[in-house]
Amino acid sequence: MTHSDFSGSRLLSPLAEPVQVSWQSPSNIALVKYWGKTGQQLPLNPSLSMTLSEAYTETILSALPRETEGPVELGFWFEGLPHASFGNRMTKFLETVTEIFPWLQQVNLKLETHNTFPHSAGIASSASAFSALALCLCSLDAVLCGILLDEDEFRFKASYIARLGSGSACRSVYPGFTVWGAARAVPGFSDLAAVPVTEVHRDFKSLKDTIIIVSRNEKPVSSSDGHKRMKGHPFAEARIKQAVNNTAELLEAIKTGDKQTFIRIVENEAFTLHALMMTSEDGFMLMQPETVRIISRIQELRKETGLDICFTLDAGPNIHLLYFADQSEQVRKLIVEELLKNNEQNLRIDDYCGSGPVKIT
Ligand code: DP6
Repeated sequence: MTHSDFSGSRLLSPLAEPVQVSWQSPSNIALVKYWGKTGQQLPLNPSLSMTLSEAYTETILSALPRETEGPVELGFWFEGLPHASFGNRMTKFLETVTEIFPWLQQVNLKLETHNTFPHSAGIASSASAFSALALCLCSLDAVLCGILLDEDEFRFKASYIARLGSGSACRSVYPGFTVWGAARAVPGFSDLAAVPVTEVHRDFKSLKDTIIIVSRNEKPVSSSDGHKRMKGHPFAEARIKQAVNNTAELLEAIKTGDKQTFIRIVENEAFTLHALMMTSEDGFMLMQPETVRIISRIQELRKETGLDICFTLDAGPNIHLLYFADQSEQVRKLIVEELLKNNEQNLRIDDYCGSGPVKIT
């Protein structure tokens, strides 16, 4: 499948009045990590994530009448204020999808977004932002050009578009658990867009994720730069194999409710991500001393208490603590009394496995 399979229509006559659509779309946390890309935003390895609930972006996209056709014209508003640097990234992205949405060059666009979570809090804002925008584009396409798709086609197309903006965003268009990337061991998955995981054990449907903030400073190396360092990485081939196996094993654990396998793989993936960063050319480290203290304590507490807790890390120092609903009272107590004790930020965000994006009417 290529861009041209999604080629869309132009407006037959100039837009007479503004048309507006709006979506809320959540962030997601990767359990098997996407790290390294090739071609046009294609992943080197499969990844598996959980869509969050409380951490989401709300986006309003308006198409406004325009007199002459030309390059994409976008006004971008973030948290109620114009924002030039985010706006430039969004404009660049829109320019890459004009073949799919030719009408983008026939209207003026206004994009207004708002996040429910603080910036640089260890929550992937590009995932929620680009998935919300992709969903808005597909909805506007339906209104302006009458492109009608069934629900599965609509989501797949939105996921394909979101991927072009930010890889991890393609996983946010679905609820629950999602896989992106053609895992050889598992048929039905694609590098072009994510697909939902359909077999989920009931214990996993209410999985919790508390994000423990260690630092809110800008990261010294962005994810986009990090991905580039997988090119020629001495461990790349082994990493791809490991991610394929971890995806297959994690899918089975999520299906059967095997918590011990889940914990083993999720922590193995978090350590692997950071080990790949450290062992790349121009190696770098995003963990901080407080990150190491907290993840070590989580592993000790698991042994001491027998609770089914584990951690994962994104490309940053903040910690995602994962646990199950039936143990959440005990775990929340440990978070306050043990993990956040003496932590300078003393800041956490309680989230959980979410039900996916919502269209606002
Ligand atoms: C470590 O999706 O932010 O969070 O495709 O360049 O936008 P771009 O990168 P991005 O990378 C996310 C990397 C990760 C792991 C993951 O979410 O799978």
